[in-house]
Amino acid sequence: MTDFVRIVEVGPRDGLQNEKSVIATADKIALIDRLSRTGLRTIEATSFVSPRWVPQLADAAEVFTGIHREPGVAYPVLVPNETGYDRARAVGVEEIAVFTAASEAFNRKNINAGIDESIERFRPVLARAAADGVRVRGYVSTVLGCPYQGDVPVADVVKVASRLYELGCYEISLGDTIGVGTPLKARAMLQAVASVVPLSSLAVHFHDTYGQALANILACLEEGVRVVDAAVSGTGGCPYAKGASGNVASEDVVYMLHGMGIATGIDLERLSETGRWLAALLGRETGSKAGKAMAAT
Ligand code: HMG
Ligand code: MG
Repeated sequence: MTDFVRIVEVGPRDGLQNEKSVIATADKIALIDRLSRTGLRTIEATSFVSPRWVPQLADAAEVFTGIHREPGVAYPVLVPNETGYDRARAVGVEEIAVFTAASEAFNRKNINAGIDESIERFRPVLARAAADGVRVRGYVSTVLGCPYQGDVPVADVVKVASRLYELGCYEISLGDTIGVGTPLKARAMLQAVASVVPLSSLAVHFHDTYGQALANILACLEEGVRVVDAAVSGTGGCPYAKGASGNVASEDVVYMLHGMGIATGIDLERLSETGRWLAALLGRETGSKAGKAMAAT
């Protein structure tokens, strides 16, 4: 059987949440609809967070109701609390992602709560999701370093990941929020988490601040991870993570995987066209090296 990696496309959410200029709702919808035609199976569509905290995604409900939902594609959204859950469910969301961090300091800046408090907020959300048949993904941020705390002990990552898993998240995405990780550290962190959460329920989420994302992903693939988060055109960053730059570009990850003989189900040509379309919309060059190279050939 061919080896397969599922790409979780986070461009419409992580990619856009930190953009300074206002992006029109119609353009966000067009982006998701284009991505839906590339063969992606999971597209994180938007965030039902507080519009005061992330004004760029204040149109979450309009975006979600405006997209064409392709059969077989999941469109999860970020939900920080029950208010977010209510808003998401009111427009027919069927999959959500909750998010916390391995660092107390980052969590306070990002969601105005400590780790324990954030888990307590998620408890009723997960209970309601279970009753409603809604799937829940869980994010752990700052798994390889925190902009406020500095080093983050691997034991803290393990603890938070296992708490989210026990709470009922079907998959835990391990986020190097500020892209400071390097391959051996990424591998060691993944190995430690995999001792308490099955590897088949783990995903990796790398930002490319120091140009390490693909190398880190390769190290984690060798360890057996088969779900990788990425953002088309390499957009992204968290507004509450000082110094965080773009996510690893989806096109670059897909190019690497296909080159390794690993299937993704994604049409790389269409994906890189979408990346260039988005870059033009944002008024800059694509952040994907593969996307740029493919345009030149
Ligand atoms: P808070 O201010 O402490 O909230 O924010 P609160 O519960 O005290 O409520 C204050 C007001 O906000 C109330 O309104 C609530 O109704 C409203 P008022 O009574 O004053 O009129 N409110 C909401 N409105 C809409 N939707 C909601 C919502 N919740 C409360 N869901 C909160 C706490 C968590 C809401 C806030 O801190 C927040 O929204 N933070 C989100 C920050 C964020 O989105 N960060 C980026 C995503 S995480 C990330 O990028 C990392 C990741 O990519 C992985 C990685 O790279 O590591 C996932
Ligand atoms: Mg992120």
